Amino acid sequence: MSNQKTINVPLGERSYDVHVAAGLLDTLGKTAAEMPNVRQVAIISDSNVAKLYGNRAIESLADAGLDANLIEFPAGEVNKTLSTTSDLYDRLFALEPAIDRDLLIVALGGGVTGDMAGFVAATTLRGVRWLQCPTTLLADVDASVGGKTGVDHAAGKNLIGAFYQPGGVLIDVETLKTLPPAVLSSGLAECVKHAVIRDPSLLNFIEANAEALAACESDVMTDLVARNVAIKAAVVADDERESGVRMHLNFGHTVGHGIEAFVGYEAITHGQAIASIMQHDKKAKAGRVRFVLPTRLGKVEIYDNVTPAQVAASIERLA
Ligand code: GLY
Repeated sequence: MSNQKTINVPLGERSYDVHVAAGLLDTLGKTAAEMPNVRQVAIISDSNVAKLYGNRAIESLADAGLDANLIEFPAGEVNKTLSTTSDLYDRLFALEPAIDRDLLIVALGGGVTGDMAGFVAATTLRGVRWLQCPTTLLADVDASVGGKTGVDHAAGKNLIGAFYQPGGVLIDVETLKTLPPAVLSSGLAECVKHAVIRDPSLLNFIEANAEALAACESDVMTDLVARNVAIKAAVVADDERESGVRMHLNFGHTVGHGIEAFVGYEAITHGQAIASIMQHDKKAKAGRVRFVLPTRLGKVEIYDNVTPAQVAASIERLA
């Protein structure tokens, strides 16, 4: 492969490698077959991604002599629920031969798939191994690294879950070529977030390569993804369970999650809704909402003294 990058996520016995290159999906079978005692594999994928890449993943596993199964769920964050998870367990336990703890789960798709398949891996038979094959830029640079797994609850996003690290991550940057431009942009926004919290030179890289990135040119995309994975891996290595610096990754997310939860409420203003919704944000501590705010490019601090009125005023101003 012309430009392949490997980044280690150093977490002691839970360490793993993240590989980034064009065409890596076709090496899934080889990677899985190299894991001790893997014979049976269940790929969990949503209805969109399964259509695009399911067969390639199955073929790669079958070519490596593995018993490969594809389990699909309907695409969309709205389906990242315990009810979909329950359906996934039903389908895993219906597989023949019956699954055992040597089962390998592969998460093939974006963040929703990774979070939910990872949670299924963490909880099936008290934990089976899993690999991540992310297919969106956002999942490449964020969700696929760090072992946060889980599902949403009516009370909020990602409220049910577990820290459960994958055994490895294969990022095939060619899969980004099928992304709608708006989905690609939301991944680029996460890269900008990494630049703001840790590495201003990444902003220069994004600016200098904007055209190539918009066209998903493989070499430059590999470099972008690898740089971002390295930032995320370093943060996760410092604070796997988010008791300190990992919170820096939440820059922008307190308000962002509020906005997501807000969709559908119409009786109150955006600012009011987000300021009230944020009290339920799981990043809140002792009832105080914690904000990650930049003090300069490349450096952020955590503040818990921002008032709801200040938040509401800022959001109204932006709106
Ligand atoms: N997406 C934030 C984190 O993984 O901690």
